[in-house]
Amino acid sequence: MQINGQRLWDSLETLGRIGRYWDEVAQLWGVNRLALTAADGEGRRHVVERMRALGLTVTVDQIGNVYGRRAGRLDHLAPVMIGSHIDSVPTAGRFDGCLGVLAGLEVIATLVDHGHTTARPVVVAFFTDEEGCRFGTDMLGSAVATGRLALADAYALRDPAGLTVKDELAAIGFLGDAPVALAPPHAYLECHIEQGPVLEHAGMELGVVTGVQGISWQELTLVGRSAHAGTTPMELRRDPGLVAARVHVHLREMVASGQYGQLRATMGRLEATPGLVNIVPSRVICTVDLRNPDEAALQRAEADLARFVEEAAAAEGVTVQRRQTARTPPVPFAPEVQRRVAEAATALGLRHQAIVSGAGHDAQEMARLTRAGMVFVPGLYDGISHNPRELSTPEAIAAGGQVLFSVAMSFAEEAE
Ligand code: GLV
Ligand code: MN
Ligand code: MN
Repeated sequence: MQINGQRLWDSLETLGRIGRYWDEVAQLWGVNRLALTAADGEGRRHVVERMRALGLTVTVDQIGNVYGRRAGRLDHLAPVMIGSHIDSVPTAGRFDGCLGVLAGLEVIATLVDHGHTTARPVVVAFFTDEEGCRFGTDMLGSAVATGRLALADAYALRDPAGLTVKDELAAIGFLGDAPVALAPPHAYLECHIEQGPVLEHAGMELGVVTGVQGISWQELTLVGRSAHAGTTPMELRRDPGLVAARVHVHLREMVASGQYGQLRATMGRLEATPGLVNIVPSRVICTVDLRNPDEAALQRAEADLARFVEEAAAAEGVTVQRRQTARTPPVPFAPEVQRRVAEAATALGLRHQAIVSGAGHDAQEMARLTRAGMVFVPGLYDGISHNPRELSTPEAIAAGGQVLFSVAMSFAEEAE
């Protein structure tokens, strides 16, 4: 059975028009379906309609995760689950997350085309707020469904405007009533754009994902003293902007020191209050994203950073509050899923290689429940992602979809 690559490509285009905005910097149309906004709601309704049109039984749970289920011949058996997310960062392209969900629906559509019923049920899932850009915690829906995060804690998270996850789920009509706890599926599969340059540079057509690196997010609130830029002598200042700048430079120095293995460090948010040209800021809020495939090295980097922040703040007379907003260890994927992905790629004559995921994914949460694994599709332009320029080719997308199909079938036809 062959998937319809054109149908999959067209479905990415169609979903990509929901939440579309003109990006002045990229000079391109981008996608903004930030979690639990009206645009996310519209995208969700579109995907739910497609699920229903394909004959799936749709369930929405109490954290807004959506599951579309197709019955199997042996319907009492645990299902094969295919999933990802359709929420986006505010400056997204059309592929991140959406590919995994729409490729899952393409698997279902192919089964419908052929009138084929698998032994096991097949479920296509999209999880709530994978990106974490609005409420500060990524993998929200899949972390709740797999028991890492309590529902009450997830509900209570607030966005910068003070709105809670629970109220915003209700506002877009996705505060479901199904219990959040997920019974372990037979296997979990996720097809995703790579979001980096490795496969493209190596001339590969597909990536067999071995696991996801560890991720540590924290938010620093640095409070000093607001002052007039012209009249306040330098030695009398308590400038939280200076502390943030020193922390930012220190992150690069930590990486350059070579002491922390393959550490990646990013200060993605840097916000001064009042944020005006002629005022020493009273407060700076900044975020740090640390990633490392080695948990021990990640912990050493966290400790180094904590020490440096305290020292830099004390030297400037600035107070510091640190809040850990997300933390996941490196997660290896099931060797069995990796083997089947590699075999399917070989059978299709695709050049493929093993690759560690630099980005976080819902599959890292599902790996606690079941055999989980991922298929990576190469991107273009050094794999740029979280940006409207994110792009892949119809051929690469079709290849990823076909591998997903083969691996899903290999699990879905297993009677035990
Ligand atoms: C998810 O997109 C991440 O930040 O890795
Ligand atoms: Mn993603
Ligand atoms: Mn993303």
